[in-house]
Amino acid sequence: MDHVIPFGSLNAFSHFCFNETVIQKHMETEALYYRLGKKNLDLLVERFYDLVFVNPQISHLFKNDKEEIKGKQRLFLSQFLGGPALYSDKYGHPRMRARHMPHTITETDAIAWLHCMSQAIGTLPVSEELKDELFARFPSTAMFMVNKEEN
Ligand code: HEM
Repeated sequence: MDHVIPFGSLNAFSHFCFNETVIQKHMETEALYYRLGKKNLDLLVERFYDLVFVNPQISHLFKNDKEEIKGKQRLFLSQFLGGPALYSDKYGHPRMRARHMPHTITETDAIAWLHCMSQAIGTLPVSEELKDELFARFPSTAMFMVNKEEN
């Protein structure tokens, strides 16, 4: 990924050299969200929560309405993968770690969450390279949500 220009410099550069349509086009071809496509993202969220909601380690954590949880994740992943900022538009700044604080999350929980994500990604009708790139976005964020030592 050494061809990627840091976002700050791209911004300054674009001010002089590109119009917004060109920038938009660039982002649409590069960002994971656009390469994956909305249909696959929706499929991912469905398959992921089908696994999460029956996972013996973490299913008990998810107490709210299941469709609402999926809906929030669809909006969040859109922006997390470089697509439209749908979550922020509706709920404000993501503050994901803070939003997870009311839930007790251990490292074992994070690993179970990642396992569900890995399995769900594995079912998507996309290339193995894209699957690997997609999964690579999650481990550090999942570990960042850990807020409790193991017993
Ligand atoms: C590390 C393991 C994780 C666990 C155990 C976990 C657990 C939870 C729980 C219990 C909720 C609330 C569900 C409810 O309302 O009943 C939640 C909400 C959410 N989680 Fe996670 N989560 C984890 C990691 C992540 C990661 C890595 C992401 C994003 C990449 C994420 C994105 C979200 C989003 C968008 C919501 C909805 C937030 C809101 O209320 O607006 N979670 N999660």
